[in-house]
Amino acid sequence: MIEKNIEANNLFASVLSDVKPSPIHAFDEKVSDLPNILKLTIGEPDFSVPEHIKQAAVAAILADDSHYSVSAGTKQLRQAASHFLADRYDLHYDADTEILTTIGATEGLYAILSAILDENDEVIIPTPAYPVYAAMTRLNKGNPLLVDISQDNFILTPDHLRAILANHTHVKALILTNPSNPTGVTYSAEALSDLADVLRGTDVLVISDEIYSELRYDDQHVSMATFLPDQTLVINGVSKSHAMTGYRIGIIAGPAALITPVNMVHSFIIMTPSNPAMAAATEAFDSSLSASDTEKMKNAYRERRDLLVSKMTALGFEMATPSGAFYIFAKIPENLNQDDVAFAYDLVDQEKLAVVPGSGFGPGGEGYIRLSYAASMAMLTDAMARLSSYCENNSATRIG
Ligand SMILES: Cc1ncc(COP(=O)(O)O)c(C=O)c1O
Repeated sequence: MIEKNIEANNLFASVLSDVKPSPIHAFDEKVSDLPNILKLTIGEPDFSVPEHIKQAAVAAILADDSHYSVSAGTKQLRQAASHFLADRYDLHYDADTEILTTIGATEGLYAILSAILDENDEVIIPTPAYPVYAAMTRLNKGNPLLVDISQDNFILTPDHLRAILANHTHVKALILTNPSNPTGVTYSAEALSDLADVLRGTDVLVISDEIYSELRYDDQHVSMATFLPDQTLVINGVSKSHAMTGYRIGIIAGPAALITPVNMVHSFIIMTPSNPAMAAATEAFDSSLSASDTEKMKNAYRERRDLLVSKMTALGFEMATPSGAFYIFAKIPENLNQDDVAFAYDLVDQEKLAVVPGSGFGPGGEGYIRLSYAASMAMLTDAMARLSSYCENNSATRIG
């Protein structure tokens, strides 16, 4: 039995002292129990899972599909994912050797970082970024290189990337999020091609988190793998596109030489994914009904985005161009409190409206707030009324 007087610090890996719980969830938990709170904090689709997808999970359970699968996931799911990537993004992966089923995008990220990182290897993370990347990099004994891209419209430019590579000799990977959480910004084909030109021939792997690829409002999604297939691992899944966050199914696609070692690590972490969840994800990727399910959700998100953009612009917020995912990342107007954490708590205190402070997403997020528009139009309309009231009451130069 562990003696009571053993200090926790002696028991746990020293890297744990560098890792904090997700700032998004920490903030969300703090404000969740307040009466009348309206939260635009969590990136969680508010739609139900389409009926035909639910039925696929039910059928798997009733058919006693209750045994271990293989660690890469069922062949049916890998084939469905392979067809999906080919149809939607013109990406071509062999279902037998180049696709892996993971427990959400989250486990996919972790398995990749575990497979590639040696102690003190560096991972480029353009910020503001999903906070999980830096935490996972540290947990795998790597060093996150948090690079502020807020001055370049929240896009990593080829010059910036070149400069980072010139100054750092231990870079193992670049994590690219496209479309981005928290900014909603998307990379054009040209921007990706230019980055690929910088990376081609180096030993740097791109971990391309494309979990929001189906939620792109103004143009068609293009994958980094189109331009740098041999050095890219694509992460995708059904969490956001099919409102299936709780089913926990993601995929990794990449060349067999990269997928094989990642699959080995992944098999030690999870053994195999859950069969009913895989049956549901197979239906989500494969069914001809899915395109219209996703389209309906996308149209609803687009309408919500347009509402927030027009209301917030009128209130004086400037924002990153929100062309994908379901987030608005907005700069706090100069006549309001510029400390994003103080601003967010004040907004909760005065108006019972919760948004996430931007600094939780890294250096490029200071002075910003993130709003998730995975919420109903009624909630968003109410949120905008509360934000407007806050701006009116707190602005140094009061409106009107
Ligand atoms: C950029 C990004 N990647 C990955 C994830 C996690 O996806 P999953 O639920 O499939 O693990 C999220 C969830 O918010 C995300 O925003």
